[in-house]
Amino acid sequence: MSEWWKKAVVYQIYPQSFQDTNGDGIGDLQGIISRLDYLQSLGVNTLWLTPIFKSPMVDNGYDVADYTSINPIYGTMDDFDELIKDVHDRHMHLLLDMVVNHTSDQCKWFQESKKSRTGKYADYYIWEDPKPDGSAPTNMGGVFGGSAWEYVPERKQYYLHMFAKQQVDLNWDNPEVRKAVYNCMIFWAKKGVDGFRLDSLNSLSKRRPFVDLPKAAGSDYGNVFACVSNGPHLHEYLKEMNKEVFSKYNMLTVGETSNTTVQEATKYIRPDELSMVFQFEHMDVDSGRFGQYSNVRFKMSDLRDTLARWQKGMSWNALYLGNHDQPRLVSRFGDDKHFRKESAKMLATMYILQKGTPYIFEGDEIGMTNVNFKSIDDYHDLDSHQIYNHMLDWGVSKEEALDIIQRKSRDNGRTPFQWNTDKEAGFTTGKPWMTVNSNYKEINAAEAEKDPNSILAYYKKLLKLRDNTDTLIEGDFKLLSPDDSDIFAYERKDDKATYLVITSFAKDKVRYDLSTIDQKFDQLDVALNNYDDLEEADNVLYLKPYQALVVKVKD
Ligand code: GLC
Ligand code: CA
Repeated sequence: MSEWWKKAVVYQIYPQSFQDTNGDGIGDLQGIISRLDYLQSLGVNTLWLTPIFKSPMVDNGYDVADYTSINPIYGTMDDFDELIKDVHDRHMHLLLDMVVNHTSDQCKWFQESKKSRTGKYADYYIWEDPKPDGSAPTNMGGVFGGSAWEYVPERKQYYLHMFAKQQVDLNWDNPEVRKAVYNCMIFWAKKGVDGFRLDSLNSLSKRRPFVDLPKAAGSDYGNVFACVSNGPHLHEYLKEMNKEVFSKYNMLTVGETSNTTVQEATKYIRPDELSMVFQFEHMDVDSGRFGQYSNVRFKMSDLRDTLARWQKGMSWNALYLGNHDQPRLVSRFGDDKHFRKESAKMLATMYILQKGTPYIFEGDEIGMTNVNFKSIDDYHDLDSHQIYNHMLDWGVSKEEALDIIQRKSRDNGRTPFQWNTDKEAGFTTGKPWMTVNSNYKEINAAEAEKDPNSILAYYKKLLKLRDNTDTLIEGDFKLLSPDDSDIFAYERKDDKATYLVITSFAKDKVRYDLSTIDQKFDQLDVALNNYDDLEEADNVLYLKPYQALVVKVKD
């Protein structure tokens, strides 16, 4: 099937934190190779590695210095060749993370570009003259704080960086840049890579000329997204990228598209552009005055309405509740204290059986939780630090700022994988680059493998069910009971079968009256249940805390 990615279940690996094999405290490619049995037995068939290219690691590899090399902290090109061979031998696929909105300031292209206004690389980046008073060309702010413009004396000009100042935005309006980037992609395609996750993809085409912008929420600077999101030439560039690269290799392509509505997103999903996109609207359901960094608890109905809107509006979705930029899903949307196992299983059921390609972030399958470091100094992520300082400047107390970081830091998803009860959770024999979550004695893969009721065991059943059931892959999605205060329920249906997915977000027992969705209990076969039993009387289900059910309607 040319659309092989519809059957894909993607597992996201954060290489730095997955498995170390040489004791330097940093995960590596050999570590991934050593865990392929585990991944295969989980039932995923596609692996996405966050960037493994040479990088000064200012933003953990999202600052690429050389797109066709392997970062020596992860191993060598031989290790990579071995990995891709092993993955393919298991009939699995491998995706790489292409960060092509920007390069590291250490990239050769930028080193040349900053030297002078003439020469081959002069126009590879976005350079602008200062305002007459010498200040930055516009008031635009960077996503990681401060101005989005940085001055370079050699050129007497500013360059644009929508993220950190070491992440320099490429000038996609320059055809030479586009060609150079496609060549890097082709390099990996020729090695057999099966697709790409495309970082910050909808920011490639900037709105020019650059002007002062209205301020972003909780910021002194103009909102960069107004300039960069879904810009005027984006579709043109994507079609070109598709023609030059993706179409020749039958790839899964998933674009990271923040600040994008359903209406805009539908335009990307076409055979001559992308397979799917990561939308962000459901990641905003608990935003506050500093954006995603907040201590606001989400409302289930907001999460449900948002996801259902995307299900309705898109032919195919990239399904996710967590990744390396987000807190742990069980801590954020479930209850990691009282119902960790139940809520982790429920959340997986709720999102993985929607229509689209599911993405599982490493560790979610064993219910890893937020890390709750006790001091800001324990956090590595540059964004956590800048937002913490920013909050203090804006009058937030230290306690509240730390609480917000604990809830929302990107480091929550980046702590080392918890493999077993050995020192450092079996992640490394040395000192890990980031502190292991102290709950590893209780939460780890080895314990989960032993326990038939573990979250891991449930994920295996869930993925097997999806894999064996065409209706749960291709069937239509319909939201049920859109006004229920606790239950997120939906139907998947095609001409072969009808399935119902019924999930409770309540911490108490709640009623769910099947007659309100025109169903009869004796007409349903339970295909999956995250509890051993199911209470029912007079066609009413009494769902336990965070109970999840998948049922098939009898023919
Ligand atoms: C994406 C990545 C994130 C990174 C940013 C800049 O959002 O997922 O980790 O910091 O792009 O490259
Ligand atoms: Ca290592």
